Amino acid sequence: MTTRKILITSALPYANGPIHLGHLLEYIQTDIWSRFQKARGHECYYVCADDAHGTPIMLKAQQLGLTPEQMIAQTAIEHQADFKDFLIGFDNYHSTHSEENREFASEIYQKLDAGGYIKRRSISQLFDPEKQMFLPDRFVKGDCPKCGALDQNGDSCDVCGATYSPTELKNPKSVVSGATPVLKDSEHYFFDLPAFEEMLQQWTRGGALQSEMSNKLQEWFKDGLQQWDISRDAPYFGFEIPGAPGKYFYVWLDAPIGYLASFKNYCDKAGVDFSAFWQKDSTAEVYHFIGKDIIYFHSLFWPAMLDGAGYRKPTSVFAHGFVTVNGAKMSKSKGTFIKARTYLEQLNPEYLRYYFASKLTSGIVDLDLNLEDFSQKVNADLVGKVVNIASRCASFIAKKFDGKLSAELVEPELYAEFINQGEVIATAFEEREYARAIRDIMALADKANQYIDAKAPWVLAKDETKQQETHDVCSMGINLFRVLMHYLKPVLPAMAAEVEAFLQVELRWDSYSAPLVNHHINSFKPLMQRVDPVKVAAMVAASTENLKPTTAVVEKVEAAKPAASAIEPVAETINIDDFAKLDLRIARIVSAEHVEGADKLLRLQLDLGNETRQVFAGIKAAYQPEQLVGRLTVMVANLAPRKMKFGMSEGMVMAAGPGGSEIFLLSPDDGATPGMRVK
Ligand code: 2FM
Ligand code: ZN
Repeated sequence: MTTRKILITSALPYANGPIHLGHLLEYIQTDIWSRFQKARGHECYYVCADDAHGTPIMLKAQQLGLTPEQMIAQTAIEHQADFKDFLIGFDNYHSTHSEENREFASEIYQKLDAGGYIKRRSISQLFDPEKQMFLPDRFVKGDCPKCGALDQNGDSCDVCGATYSPTELKNPKSVVSGATPVLKDSEHYFFDLPAFEEMLQQWTRGGALQSEMSNKLQEWFKDGLQQWDISRDAPYFGFEIPGAPGKYFYVWLDAPIGYLASFKNYCDKAGVDFSAFWQKDSTAEVYHFIGKDIIYFHSLFWPAMLDGAGYRKPTSVFAHGFVTVNGAKMSKSKGTFIKARTYLEQLNPEYLRYYFASKLTSGIVDLDLNLEDFSQKVNADLVGKVVNIASRCASFIAKKFDGKLSAELVEPELYAEFINQGEVIATAFEEREYARAIRDIMALADKANQYIDAKAPWVLAKDETKQQETHDVCSMGINLFRVLMHYLKPVLPAMAAEVEAFLQVELRWDSYSAPLVNHHINSFKPLMQRVDPVKVAAMVAASTENLKPTTAVVEKVEAAKPAASAIEPVAETINIDDFAKLDLRIARIVSAEHVEGADKLLRLQLDLGNETRQVFAGIKAAYQPEQLVGRLTVMVANLAPRKMKFGMSEGMVMAAGPGGSEIFLLSPDDGATPGMRVK
């Protein structure tokens, strides 16, 4: 087998939030691939870094009373501790806020500029006059320009589903200061992506991408590539653009360059030739593992930037889907938004590594972490099948045969069957079809257990005339176990290390096929415990954020914001007189129906005791209409009627929750009757 030069990366996590199980799918997927490639003897490096720039990071640091440098330094420590404890074996972990990255970003920009790929023009954007800063879309809120719904995000309305530019919002407010933003012109720098269309068309057809990704790209080509705005005005946490005082590279310009920077930082320390991997005609392989949400950046901007600056392009970009937990988006209120550290405080990281591996394919599909299935699969496969083989054989070897395995293998055909599966399993790992690899490994584990069941060494051991057979059967079992653990080593590196200590042999692809005969092994210690349901429940409990009364909002429930960019809006207080103005009433939902043409709305008829009101509520993702009929809820009865595209809305129902499918109608206790005032 020829030795390949391989560089592997995972997406760089933002430096303003904790690592959670959604992130870990990717790091585990990549780490298994990296460990597998290294085990096969290839020259392989796996690098990553924190993604440290951008407005959300700048503002979060301000909120915490820290400098961005202090905050990203703290986050770097936490991220790396989480990765280490999940056994993610990076060769290097760096930061995009590093000298290497500054140099690469400047060099690439200057080469692109010299090639005529940087365009400059003035654009008009919302500006916060108090904070003296331009506002990214997500930092502006206001009333929907289409339906008038209050307090909508800068780019889309949760109530009517309209999308728009933040400049179209009515009554816009800066989320940062609460001030009314003004329009202001400024010169921006653009990367001329359309100039690379032909090259990108060729690259995407060259087999570098998953088929789903190539199809998506064809749609983007059809829609037309646009120039990409790569500059941001001060104040901004990032790198100043050379020759452009007060202008900074947009975070997404220098984020992928962070792959180069981290690798360069490694090469300088380890004496590896950087250019052998990145020069234009390099024969080394470069792979980026990413989530499906950042395909555009990695399959269009990034290869175009590299090409325009005279570097080689990635060999391939591998995208994966998102993690759902118990069939739904990770949710803080349900306790399924689980941070890496919260998991580690309760459970063994290899449970999760195994579970993800058992479900991962090379496709871009979402992966559900069903906590019942998780426990059941880990217990059944790892504890019940794999470890069971060793635990059923090892004690006899230790007690009766001085810890020494038999002088020969008595079932060479069975053993050969296990060895012959090696290349089939290796192909599955290589193709990132881990679920298939795990299925094949577990099928072998079943065979090993069937063999031991049939031979029943615990019966043989009692018969003085069958001691040799007992020895041979148990030695056979240990040898089969060794082959299985060798295949599982990229997935379960810590357990594999314990097995190496137990068997006193390294599990290696270049030597695993020769059986262990006449070989001393150590005494067996339990290699893996069953998943403790109490600990799973404790993890969920520790992840559950109670809905505070103050999070209750009226009809419109604030959309869940990406954790990485979350910044709380400025809280305004009201006085008791303001509160007294609200006429909150118990209402019974007498009918609920879908609204033709509305993505998020349900039409409700509410019985208020002495009258019926029609209200449109943005709760369609959370409730089926039939679930609502007959239920009591709380409504704002004195809200001025509002004309919406679909009809009059005569009040609002109250709900709580982060949004989407997690909106919880406020329901009063039994005993309330329609029309009753809520105090
Ligand atoms: O989406 C994200 O979380 C980004 N921080 C990923 C960056 S990947 C690379 F381009 F740096
Ligand atoms: Zn709207």
